[in-house]
Amino acid sequence: MTALLEMDDLHYRYPGSPAPALNGATLRLEAGEKVVLIGRNGSGKSTLLLHSNGILRPQRGQVWVAGQPMSYQQRSLREWRRQVGLIFQHPDDQLFSASVAQDISFGPLNLGLSEEAARQRVAKAAEQCGVTDLLERPTHALSGGEKTRVALAGVLAMEPLVLLADEALANLDPWMRLQLIAIFEHLVAQGKTVLLATHDLPLARTWAGRVVVMDDGRVVADGPPQHIFTDPATLERTGLDCVVAQAGNRIDSIDR
Ligand SMILES: Nc1ncnc2c1ncn2[C@@H]1O[C@H](COP(=O)(O)OP(=O)(O)O)[C@@H](O)[C@H]1O
Ligand SMILES: [Mg+2]
Repeated sequence: MTALLEMDDLHYRYPGSPAPALNGATLRLEAGEKVVLIGRNGSGKSTLLLHSNGILRPQRGQVWVAGQPMSYQQRSLREWRRQVGLIFQHPDDQLFSASVAQDISFGPLNLGLSEEAARQRVAKAAEQCGVTDLLERPTHALSGGEKTRVALAGVLAMEPLVLLADEALANLDPWMRLQLIAIFEHLVAQGKTVLLATHDLPLARTWAGRVVVMDDGRVVADGPPQHIFTDPATLERTGLDCVVAQAGNRIDSIDR
């Protein structure tokens, strides 16, 4: 089966940095998957996600989308970003238009959709993310959670095959979190794939069908949550043993 997104043996060192941020990271996402990406700070999660839609270019390795090797020419990047939507860890890095409406419509207008078609997509995405009332607001005058919802609406308006969110749920209230999880469920039911990078282990345990663990710039474990969080060898190899022992009660209490 062709993977929707494949990042194969990626190596990346930030300019001037003594150590590589990615050190042979490999991740393959199939259609209809619910994936949670975990790993300690600095393990390379954000750097990997920045490779998923061509924002960073690997110094070694290759990214494939729907079976096609990706290239970094402007035209290919545009098509790539239509298929793979990324919500950044810091929404300030993502929003660049003056108003919320302009920001959400930037992508659809860039796809060459008619103004009416773009308008419909923006209205639908804004509604889903609960930002309809914010459409005329300047993007700089939003709270962190509002910015994340606007960034998500901008990505949903592109109707991507794969949606990756980098710690995007962290600054949302519990109601909005539930709403976003419902949106993600809806996408998955349509055969799309959602990956969330998060430190929220209960979410990984209860929502994900698959948990991917990064350490030191590579994927060190990958499997169903019941395996990742219970298999002693996996726990030890990932350094998750202490974390899970400490969080155990909390994790188990919401396990169904
Ligand atoms: N813009 C940057 N410039 C230089 N080094 C960076 C930059 N962003 C991240 N790094 C380094 O790359 C490594 C991986 O970081 P990151 O991908 O942000 O990890 P995570 O998201 O898992 O916390 C870390 O050592 C981090 O310090
Ligand atoms: Mg990060």
